[in-house]
Amino acid sequence: MSSSALKIGLLGLGTVGGGTIAVLSRNADVIARRAGRPIEVVAASARDITKPRAFDLSGIALVEDPIELVGRPDVDVVVELIGGTTPAKDLVLAALENGKHVVTANKALIALHGNEIFEAAQRTQTMVGFEAAVAGGIPVIKAAREALSGNRIEWIAGIINGTCNFILSAMSEPGREFEPVLAEAQALGYAEADPSFDIDGIDAAHKLTILAAIAFGIPLQFESVFVEGIRHISRADVEYAARLGYRIKHLAMARQVADGIELRVHPTLIPTSQLLANVDGVMNAIMINGDAAGPTLYYGAGAGAEPTASAVVADLVDVARAFGSDSENRVPPLAFQADRLTDLPIVSMEALETAYYLRLHVLNQAGVLADVTRVLGAGGISIEAILQQESDPGAAIVPIIILVHPVPEHAMNQALVEIAALSQVHEPIVKIRMESLT
Ligand code: HSE
Repeated sequence: MSSSALKIGLLGLGTVGGGTIAVLSRNADVIARRAGRPIEVVAASARDITKPRAFDLSGIALVEDPIELVGRPDVDVVVELIGGTTPAKDLVLAALENGKHVVTANKALIALHGNEIFEAAQRTQTMVGFEAAVAGGIPVIKAAREALSGNRIEWIAGIINGTCNFILSAMSEPGREFEPVLAEAQALGYAEADPSFDIDGIDAAHKLTILAAIAFGIPLQFESVFVEGIRHISRADVEYAARLGYRIKHLAMARQVADGIELRVHPTLIPTSQLLANVDGVMNAIMINGDAAGPTLYYGAGAGAEPTASAVVADLVDVARAFGSDSENRVPPLAFQADRLTDLPIVSMEALETAYYLRLHVLNQAGVLADVTRVLGAGGISIEAILQQESDPGAAIVPIIILVHPVPEHAMNQALVEIAALSQVHEPIVKIRMESLT
């Protein structure tokens, strides 16, 4: 074991920064035995460096200017925990140019600028660790990148936004609607600073971008991800889905099909019999289906001070072990060798083939269901189940739930245009995709 410590410069002293300092200090002995050397935070920088903090900063040089921190001669690794892309991107690139290794928890940074960052790291022979960027404490990057490297990965399905999962889980309890549950998630500190990143699916799309690149050897391409959030999901849909044997989850899916890769984030009905359907509250879970391993499932805390710090520290241990090694022989950040990525096409949503849950509001009169099913039949769309609940006597408009077997999305959309044009059908028409995960 080398006696010289791996020296860390910390950018950001927020929740995860504090968690990282705490874990490195509390578990210093086991971490050093695993890493082969101690790991010590020697310097830190934050927006307000003088602010009183609840964690111990003794022995850590506090630096006003983050640019100074990423150039300090006594820093081996810069840990970026400030989030967002500005100024994080410039600081990370500056750190790499200064020959520092980088560990980051920043999913937006890797999803949007990872190609440039990894290119800079390769040129400067430095390492970039980002386990903490996807699903906090769950070691899913390492699993997909290293432990499954003998597989052709067929698909990944993940619940990778805790806030959405908290909201959808709470909405399955009696009397809980979207808005008050979102307010509770914000009060509990689960949501991003801008909660639209969570509930409109952006955060999950950042994480899926990273997982898909690792799984399929494609460049990072956030702009190719189809993104739909959970604002339009109502308690009624959650209840109808449950009656039919499904849970609604905000699912991130990446799948290799004949024409390329599907990359999509949207609410999805999952059979209650699937483990993934039973992941509740803020917890995250990712299922990866490999041709050799079959389905594997990774579950845990997707955010929080120490779960995220756990991933940051694991990356630091990896850096310590590989420190000074020939950069050619290190694990490539995106699993595939940089010159062996393939730019497979991303399948358009119109071409996607999947099953659907539909909720229609129709006039309570004879022949309406026949008209709706005629349109579906003419479009080659096969019905799996229909549910019409008893409604109040005399109700003029009643909801009808229809589940249909897998069909190309363009055919589903065309049929819904025709159904919406029927005079007996009223707005809104709700359409939610379904996945069997088999
Ligand atoms: N806001 C994120 C979530 C935190 O709800 O999962 C971790 O990225």
